[in-house]
Amino acid sequence: MNELVEKLAADHTLNDDEYFDLIEHRTPEAAELLAEHAVAARQPIYGTTVFTRGLIEISNICKNDCIYCGIRRSNRNVKRYRLEPDTIVACAREGHELGFRTIVLQGGEDAYYTDDVLGSVVSRIKDCCPDTAVTLSMGERSRESYQRLYDAGADRYLLRHETADPDHYAMLHPAEMSWEHRMQCLRDLRSIGYQVGAGFMVGSPFQTTEHLVKEMRFVEYFKPDMCGIGPFIPHHDTPFAHEPAGTLELTLYLLSIIRLIHPHVLLPATTALGTIDPRGREKGMLAGANVVMPNLSPVGVRKQYELYDNKICTGEESAQCRGCLGLRMTLIGYDLAVDRGDVRL
Ligand code: SAM
Ligand code: FES
Repeated sequence: MNELVEKLAADHTLNDDEYFDLIEHRTPEAAELLAEHAVAARQPIYGTTVFTRGLIEISNICKNDCIYCGIRRSNRNVKRYRLEPDTIVACAREGHELGFRTIVLQGGEDAYYTDDVLGSVVSRIKDCCPDTAVTLSMGERSRESYQRLYDAGADRYLLRHETADPDHYAMLHPAEMSWEHRMQCLRDLRSIGYQVGAGFMVGSPFQTTEHLVKEMRFVEYFKPDMCGIGPFIPHHDTPFAHEPAGTLELTLYLLSIIRLIHPHVLLPATTALGTIDPRGREKGMLAGANVVMPNLSPVGVRKQYELYDNKICTGEESAQCRGCLGLRMTLIGYDLAVDRGDVRL
């Protein structure tokens, strides 16, 4: 096992059988060695600087019905909301005052946010905070739409591919959703010029080690600028309510592997990781992550953006979250940057 870790650290790649062995037969010792190498690979590029992104959850209205997601359209128990453009811009300004230099607008696929509406929000944020990167995470749209939003000033786009295996995708989504289309969106975003974030859930229902091997291959060939991975966590009002959650241990292990495959990648320690373990985000950093995404949404709506059960940070003000994460990072010897936090290639 240790030879595989050393090989990955040296070559940034393994063959499929080797990835399979590394993941399937993992041991605590291999995890420790992987994390050591991951931190060493990150060191010359990002050091112990942690990039922050202020996340504004702009709408929980969604036309999609992803089986795992708490805000899927079939969930009648969700109190739906959407933020008005003025509210979004005010949250972004507050974020800027708190030291955020990346603002992420995330939401369900809500038809209210046409290219005109969303584009105008993006350009208003760029006007009031010109030193700030704007990241969108608003799901699948047409190439023309992505182009218009890019022209309005958006810098980055996060669209998790969810799984690198089309058959597995079909087990997690209704038939009307297509893996091919999601992948096409990622290619469109990249060709337009966005910095692109992809990603997947760890331990999603039906996920096998073979699927995880495909995830590692995807990271190798697509080389996303950012890769958002976090544990799947069941939501009580979805058909996957009784499925087990992904584990901290496997998520940390995969974070380290991804850092070694692609040392320059931006790798968030996600809110889901902080939800399954009270020190999940700190442990994520120590496994090779370098990004955190505290919540900037108005406190009044936070509980309604419930993708999974027991999500953390739903009662805290934006400044509290920023302060809390700053302290958490200081305590492990890392520091939050006041910086756009672009990928360093
Ligand atoms: N609508 C946009 C999209 O589809 O990319 C952005 C919002 S979507 C809710 C953001 C991400 O939440 C998804 O890509 C998915 O990976 C994650 N997510 C949804 N339900 C989850 C769950 N039960 N556990 C963990 N992550 C979940
Ligand atoms: Fe939100 Fe700690 S990061 S309260």
